[in-house]
Order: sequence, then C-alpha cells, then structure tokens
Amino acid sequence: MIVFQGVSKIYPNGVKALQGVNLHISPGEFVFIVGPTGAGKSTLLRMIYRDEVPTRGKVFVGSQDVTRLPSRQIPYLRRRIGVVFQDFKLLPHKTAWENVAFALHVTGAPEEEIPRRVGRALAVVGLLDKALSFPHQLSGGEQQRVSIARALVHEPPILLADEPTGNLDPATSWEIIQLLAAINRRGTTVVVTTHNKIIVDMLRKRVVELSEGMVVRDQQHGLYAQEG
Ligand SMILES: Nc1ncnc2c1ncn2[C@@H]1O[C@H](COP(=O)(O)OP(=O)(O)OP(=O)(O)O)[C@@H](O)[C@H]1O
Ligand SMILES: [Mg+2]
Repeated sequence: MIVFQGVSKIYPNGVKALQGVNLHISPGEFVFIVGPTGAGKSTLLRMIYRDEVPTRGKVFVGSQDVTRLPSRQIPYLRRRIGVVFQDFKLLPHKTAWENVAFALHVTGAPEEEIPRRVGRALAVVGLLDKALSFPHQLSGGEQQRVSIARALVHEPPILLADEPTGNLDPATSWEIIQLLAAINRRGTTVVVTTHNKIIVDMLRKRVVELSEGMVVRDQQHGLYAQEG
C-alpha cells in the first residue's frame, strides 16, 4: 500500500536527506521509523503525503504514484492520509470540536454529516467530554488526542505520526502510543517516527532504521537499537 522505489531526496541546499530508499509497507501494518536526528525520518513521511517530492525514485500510495500526482489531486491524497505532529498544530482560537470539524469544512464535507463525524472521531480518542475546551485548556496529551481525532476524521486508511510523543511525559507518551496501536488494530496502517526507545522496545513492532538517509535495518518485532 505504501511503496518506496529507489527514493533519493536532495534538498535545494544540497543536503542528501534520503538515499536509495526501498520500502514496502502493507495495509494494516504498524511501523516505527527510527534513527538519529537528521537521518531523514520526517523527509520520508513527507514523501508519502506529497509534502515533498523525491529527487529520484517513486513513491506509491495504493496504486497511485504520488510523485506524479497532478496538484489538483493532492487534496484527495491527503484525505486518505492522516498526519499527526509533535507540536499538535491545533488552531488556538478554536475548540477541540471546531478543530476537528474544520478539517471537514475545508474539504467541503456535507454540513449535515459534520456533527456525526466529529463526534465519532472525538469518541475514538476518548475526548468527547473535552469537546468544548480550547487547546490552552487541555494538557499536552489531550491536545495530541485532538490532533489525532482531526487526522482520523476522514477515516483515512493511513495514519502518519512524526514524533507524536516528542512533547509529552513518559506516561502520556505511553497512552498516545496505546491509542495509535488501538487505531492500528481497527485496520489503519500506522507509521510512526520516534526517538522513544522505551516505547519501541515495549511494542516490538516492525522497526525501520534510517542512518544518513539510508535504510540500515528493517526488522519485524524489532527493538529501538540493533540487538547484540
Ligand atoms: N526543507 C528542507 N530544506 C533543506 N534541508 C532540509 C529540509 N528538511 C530537512 N532538511 C535536512 O535533511 C536532513 C534530514 O532531515 P529530516 O527532518 O528528514 O530528519 P529527521 O530524521 O526527521 O530528524 P529529527 O529526528 O531531528 O526530526 C537533515 O540534514 C535536515 O537538515
Ligand atoms: Mg524529524
């Protein structure tokens, strides 16, 4: 469902962020992307939702080569891919409910469907009781739940999370990862970049390790660092 074929990315400043990456992620998988800062993890995710295009190689999402997608089709791709970030990126002057609803408004979803769909997304993340709170009234973990609800509101088959626990304490990080794992069990493909060794080692999911833009390890039931 997500395929990288010989993907290299050289940014205009000459930085080689990815080099010859080959990767195949099947529907329903849960994958951690690990590696030191600057290894290319965020760049790899950005290729999937067409925030960046490779310098060389191809990226497929489903049967679609997203590197050749006409710009007018990018919004449709993004509806099939939910994205969550370390800093939540919530709109500060909108409530939790409005933040999630906004994602539907901008894609022109039918008005009459919006309350049901927002309610369902907030229920999945367990935050219906905080629907009317503004981001500054929520804890970091709650804000991340809102951002996950927003990412899920189009019921995408793919959820990407770029260091989703980077701003959270260990207990809250664990709750957020449990939530992502639960979403994965419902059938969503989940790809998570992280520096969180404890979480990767607890979950024993597939681990793809990047180093200087190259895949140096791709292991089922892996640990944060290579064993031995
Ligand atoms: N828009 C950009 N323009 C130029 N260089 C960039 C850009 N984005 C990233 N880079 C560079 O590409 C390399 C890979 O960056 P990337 O953000 O993908 O790493 P990362 O693995 O996500 O790191 P971190 O763990 O710190 O988030 C780095 O050297 C970075 O400085
Ligand atoms: Mg990054």
